Amino acid sequence: MSDRRLVRVEDSDRGGREPRYLHPEYRSSVKRAPAAPLVLLPEALADRTGPVFGTGDVAAADADLTAQHDGDPLGERIVVSGRVLGSDGRGVPGTLLEIWQANAAGRYRHGSDRHPAPLDPNFTGAGRCLTDADGRYRFVTVKPGAYPWRNHPNAWRPAHIHLSVFGRAFIDRLVTQMYFPGDPLFEFDPIFQSVRDPAARQRLVSAFDWETTAPEWALGYRFDIVLGSTPIEESP
Ligand SMILES: [Fe+2]
Repeated sequence: MSDRRLVRVEDSDRGGREPRYLHPEYRSSVKRAPAAPLVLLPEALADRTGPVFGTGDVAAADADLTAQHDGDPLGERIVVSGRVLGSDGRGVPGTLLEIWQANAAGRYRHGSDRHPAPLDPNFTGAGRCLTDADGRYRFVTVKPGAYPWRNHPNAWRPAHIHLSVFGRAFIDRLVTQMYFPGDPLFEFDPIFQSVRDPAARQRLVSAFDWETTAPEWALGYRFDIVLGSTPIEESP
């Protein structure tokens, strides 16, 4: 323990740009929020040099969530693309992005999801890809539906896609959520509202994008992930 340091990180230290650890409106945060100072573990060489994943493990087809089964999934086909950028504004190449989401009816293919909405036999709801030399990524999927989550009476999550961004080591990981512009549920969602800074909240909302909208085929949404700027948001 001698080389571990106790670090007290208060929600007030985080400037409203990250979700609060303790946000009582988001019921689970009451149990999850650290009650004691955080322990900063010293970095070991293996943390930085250990294997993470092989680029050969990621196939181009993994980025198309609409082509993982025999038929097309139901719902509105969309293209979600953007860049992973460092705080210096440069694209970060070779970064593993993983996404997971509900289907168009707002139902996850997960045993604990009891929402009485239909599962789609043609939609699993998970995909991954690597960023290219400019830090660009692109997914084809369907727009997820809003879903109820029992946090409080009549609680509904705005439509969202969960994202994980892996760095060069297991200890480098950012998990966040991407939302869709103009969602009427934003103001009622304790998870979205746990990011107190309105400008930071907007960094979680994708932009409708004509450039990547494919004629006769799919709407495009753009979502850039800026390391050190995009709020890290973990939730159901
Ligand atoms: Fe979710």
